[in-house]
Amino acid sequence: MNALLEIDGLNKRFAGLVAVNDVSFTLASGEIAGILGPNGAGKTTLFNLLTGFLPRDSGRVRFAGEDLAGHSPHQIVNRGLARTFQLCRPFAGMSVLENVMVGCLAPRARRHEAPLARARAILEAVGLAHRAPAPVEVLPYGDLRRLEIARALATKPRLLLLDEPFAGLGTSEIEPISALIRRLHAAEGLTILLIEHRLREFMQLVSRVIAMDFGRVIASGTPAEIVRHPRVIEAYLGRDEAADPAAEPDEAPHGAA
Ligand SMILES: Nc1ncnc2c1ncn2[C@@H]1O[C@H](COP(=O)(O)OP(=O)(O)O)[C@@H](O)[C@H]1O
Ligand SMILES: [Mg+2]
Repeated sequence: MNALLEIDGLNKRFAGLVAVNDVSFTLASGEIAGILGPNGAGKTTLFNLLTGFLPRDSGRVRFAGEDLAGHSPHQIVNRGLARTFQLCRPFAGMSVLENVMVGCLAPRARRHEAPLARARAILEAVGLAHRAPAPVEVLPYGDLRRLEIARALATKPRLLLLDEPFAGLGTSEIEPISALIRRLHAAEGLTILLIEHRLREFMQLVSRVIAMDFGRVIASGTPAEIVRHPRVIEAYLGRDEAADPAAEPDEAPHGAA
């Protein structure tokens, strides 16, 4: 498979803190991979760098063979790289349908289909068709997470970055969102890179994991390799404990979300 995303020596510093430290990896077209790491590891910052929400200090990002240096978030979305946010960010004062329509108006998406028809099809695909006319303010949290994915899909991405798509969801709400992500990957051939803390669901979803700690990539491999990796165990559990990192997914030893 061809590399869709190539990250080479990416760095980002906030004052004295190195949030992303010499990160390099590639993502093949059609892959579903995940980024794992304790709170503060630099995962969201990495997404912000890839999508142009933050300028990088150094390093290179190539997407579909094109260097993204100096591209705005808007230009990057129009190349086919879309993301969701860790905290849901719907447009207030608008309906569910209108929120998705905004994404459908992106030039990239408009080339394909009429925005209204496309928005309705996306709501159907994510299981929100019945919520189309509802104001976003009345949506339960699980539906807000679906809407977040719908808004990203509306821009017709080739690569979808999902920042903690299960955040704030109860166990029973996770499985349907997980199934939705799996379906988007399998049925629509979308390349997906996701960040998640809920290890069990995460490990079942992705075929490859890139583990980060203190801004660096500390390991990369299949989920089975990663849960046994000494540096991953250490990052999650501290130097003296050797338990399974999947056992205590939400107890990160350092930093804040
Ligand atoms: N805009 C910012 N300004 C200053 N520090 C930031 C900013 N964004 C993130 N950080 C810091 O960078 C580190 C990595 O944060 P983040 O990428 O959000 O981690 P993660 O998503 O892995 O939990 C943290 O220490 C965080 O406090
Ligand atoms: Mg984060």
